[in-house]
Amino acid sequence: MHPVDFTHWRLEPRTLQLTGPTFSARVEARPHAWRILVYQRPQDAEKSSWAVASTQRRPLTFDGRTARAPNLPPLELTLAPFAFTFAELSATGLLAHEQATWRTAAAAALDPLKPTQPEPPTDGYPLGGGLELRLAERPARRYFGLGERTGFLDKKGRRYTHWNTDALDHHETTDPLYQAHPFLIGVEDGRAWGVFLDETWPSVFDLAATTPHQSALFTPGPTLDLYLIPGPTVREVVAGFTGLTGTPPLPPLWALGFHQCRWGYPDAGSVRAVADAFATHDIPLSALWLDIDHMDGYRVFTFHPARFPEPERLIGALRERGVRTVVIVDPGVKKEAGYPVYEDGKRLRAFVETPRGDEVVGEVWANPAVWPDFTRPEVRAWWADLHRYYLEKGVAGIWNDMNEPSAFRIEGTPPQQTGKTLPLGARHGKASHAEVHNVYGLAMSQAAHEAQRRAAPTRRPFVLTRAGFAGIQRYAWVWTGDNQSHWSHLEMSIPMLLNLSLSGVAFAGADIGGFSEDATPELVTRWTWLGAFYPLMRNHSSKTSRRQEPYAFGAPWTHPMRQAIRFRYQLLPYTYTLAEEAHRTGAPLMRPLFYEFPEDETAYTLHDAFLYGPALLVAPITRPAQTHRAVYLPPGRWQDWWTGEVLEGPRWIVAEAPLDAIPLYLREGHAVPTTTPEPRETARFDPLVFRAFPTGPSRGEVYEDDGDGPTPGRRSRLEVHDRTARFDGPRAGRTVRVEVLTPEGERAALELAPP
Ligand code: GLC
Repeated sequence: MHPVDFTHWRLEPRTLQLTGPTFSARVEARPHAWRILVYQRPQDAEKSSWAVASTQRRPLTFDGRTARAPNLPPLELTLAPFAFTFAELSATGLLAHEQATWRTAAAAALDPLKPTQPEPPTDGYPLGGGLELRLAERPARRYFGLGERTGFLDKKGRRYTHWNTDALDHHETTDPLYQAHPFLIGVEDGRAWGVFLDETWPSVFDLAATTPHQSALFTPGPTLDLYLIPGPTVREVVAGFTGLTGTPPLPPLWALGFHQCRWGYPDAGSVRAVADAFATHDIPLSALWLDIDHMDGYRVFTFHPARFPEPERLIGALRERGVRTVVIVDPGVKKEAGYPVYEDGKRLRAFVETPRGDEVVGEVWANPAVWPDFTRPEVRAWWADLHRYYLEKGVAGIWNDMNEPSAFRIEGTPPQQTGKTLPLGARHGKASHAEVHNVYGLAMSQAAHEAQRRAAPTRRPFVLTRAGFAGIQRYAWVWTGDNQSHWSHLEMSIPMLLNLSLSGVAFAGADIGGFSEDATPELVTRWTWLGAFYPLMRNHSSKTSRRQEPYAFGAPWTHPMRQAIRFRYQLLPYTYTLAEEAHRTGAPLMRPLFYEFPEDETAYTLHDAFLYGPALLVAPITRPAQTHRAVYLPPGRWQDWWTGEVLEGPRWIVAEAPLDAIPLYLREGHAVPTTTPEPRETARFDPLVFRAFPTGPSRGEVYEDDGDGPTPGRRSRLEVHDRTARFDGPRAGRTVRVEVLTPEGERAALELAPP
């Protein structure tokens, strides 16, 4: 290991160029961040990115010590040995690992694959063993972000690997999981900054884990591509990061309703029976999902001829009842002569290859299987075209699974050496699998997204993915993979989704009820209430576990689950308005308390409650047989949504939680748009009923449009003052009301001023 030094600097119009005996670096002012790219090979100076959407650069100045640019805090640089300070972040050194330590470094980077590290790929690592940036640590600092992780909200004190992994049966300390987001938010004394390591290699963040006074960001690739994102608040860091990596497209309205899924609806009849049961039990439903059961022998882009004989009719019949169909698309293509998807792909040389130029063959659901190389644009275009098969039958959304990619077995490789994925040395054009593994799922989702854009330009795409990299939100929603029907997994889903939120992924969810293991009715009931506030509200389970649809446990349980799902639909105007804000600004729907209350120290310590948008505080029940829980109310006044009681924060209270409600609090100064609890085809909400804070002035907003398609909608605003409400939106022919619940629990209507 040796420290990286720079000996010369030169200011070019939009780049500060540093050069040294072994490495060069470019410092650029981007619209939302400083970028520092350290590289050795000249061609890496123009390194491209899977995550960062724009390459715009701004003018900057440098006086030998401080780089300055408009709208960015100054960046203090030391050239030899290289170090920098940005806001509260001090990088104390950059170390180049030698060739000799490559194995150690890569093995360290791939912890889960230890100790049987596969042969090092010969390409892609020509220049040594990677780069390690050391950061000075401070006791008061907390860390958030990092995408989808186990554990609590604050990520300090552990070591995290960025490597998309099929993490079946994960538990409290499993790392890594399905997604890779090498993005970190540091916060101390309410001041925040962000760091994004734009490297797709299996990088590692050691956050004061090895020693308390130092953290390290390590990448085994030949470059270190770093973005430094200013705060001073977490909200601004998230806005900056989504400014760089993109915001999510506006989803179709139906995607924000309730979804039912299960691995193990074996035929069309069983799918219809589920839709019937929802209708019989008067439970609203927006989408039914078809898992791998629908395929003919796990051949992707097929329906089984006997079990799903007339898919158009099935999908059409569901659609008539207002229920959309989403189908699973796995990347593993059955290697079989005569199967058109395989034959076409082979003709195109679309599949990932061995260094010798043969197809990498293995097993996933399809056996034997080959894997399309989605990193190549022509392969994505081919794959996107294949989606017509489903889309022309009326399928409304695509579910991309197993796209880490997961492999149960690879021919010619002992199982323990594959780490459940493709060999690290497998070829993707010029790149090795080690380099592009982390963007395989992202590139697949990009194809699924583009497929829908092309096939139906007047509809909004819907893609759900399991694997992903920073920037995945531009193409897909994310779910947290195969959780289990455990109370601890219900609880853990909260910090997991909150950190995904902070990592730019505003639309995500965990399988409600838990995927594997048998759920109890109480667990599914409490989870359905929590899920009413997940951006993706989907009940999903494995075929080996007990049925857990909201009606599966009989009458006493159907009622509270119906209540939870109806509540979701009642809040749809609010959720849709938040979705539009996420699309415009990157602001997530699920927010940790500190996102809204950055000055409040207690807010940083709580993982099991969250804000849903700015106006609602949600405190789910996370344990069995609990009828009460402690709830922290941040500074300001709050109204118990159900009883009307007004409480003054900051303080702790004990909330009562019957099964047919979730502890929920309306924030002072806010009015939340609601409607009647049923699915609807357009996002023009009639009736539109604002629930306002009972005392003092309050404000609310609602975004309305066609609920699908490209026509821009309109944001209307409500202002309540002295018990008179002003609404600036269209009212013609529909009901607009403003209500309050008095602290005594009485419903009262406020006077609505004429337009
Ligand atoms: C994977 C997915 C799960 C799906 C199953 C069968 O385990 O994570 O959601 O049901 O495969 O397709």
